[in-house]
Amino acid sequence: MEKELKISFEAIRNYDSLDDTEKKLFDEAKKIRENAYAPYSHFHVGCAVLLENGEIITGSNQENAAYPSGLCAERTTIFWTAANFPNVKMKKLFVIGAPKDALSSTPIPPCGSCRQSILEYEAKQQEGIEIYFASLDGEIFKTKSIRDLLPFSFDSSYL
Ligand code: THU
Repeated sequence: MEKELKISFEAIRNYDSLDDTEKKLFDEAKKIRENAYAPYSHFHVGCAVLLENGEIITGSNQENAAYPSGLCAERTTIFWTAANFPNVKMKKLFVIGAPKDALSSTPIPPCGSCRQSILEYEAKQQEGIEIYFASLDGEIFKTKSIRDLLPFSFDSSYL
């Protein structure tokens, strides 16, 4: 029997449609993107995470001459967050990625490994993390949880 899965997401038309907190996260993700260390792909990604205590943690992708040793912006950011604030919930995660010198771009969703890592912290904190992925121009997609981007996900309940 063939079945269908439904995922939901919100398409936010532009920056002005964001509330003040979301605008701040967009700005921070875009700003930290400038710190990306991506001499191999020249693809620069910035990430901003809002914690329940109001702090915003940011990070960028970090590449390595031994390519697989590099890390995406999302995991750089959430691993640092989890290491430093192990008991503080993550509420929202914003990501903006584009080629280094691009002036315009499309929204770049988190890669599969980052989705899996974000899922781990959602499960740990027993609360969804809202995911936003945006273009440089302010076109934004939003999901209420990483589960919307990772159907049939593997988590500790199977172990
Ligand atoms: N990258 C991220 O930082 N996040 C993603 O979700 C996708 C890819 C980085 C990894 C690498 O440094 C560059 O973008 C090209 O793949």
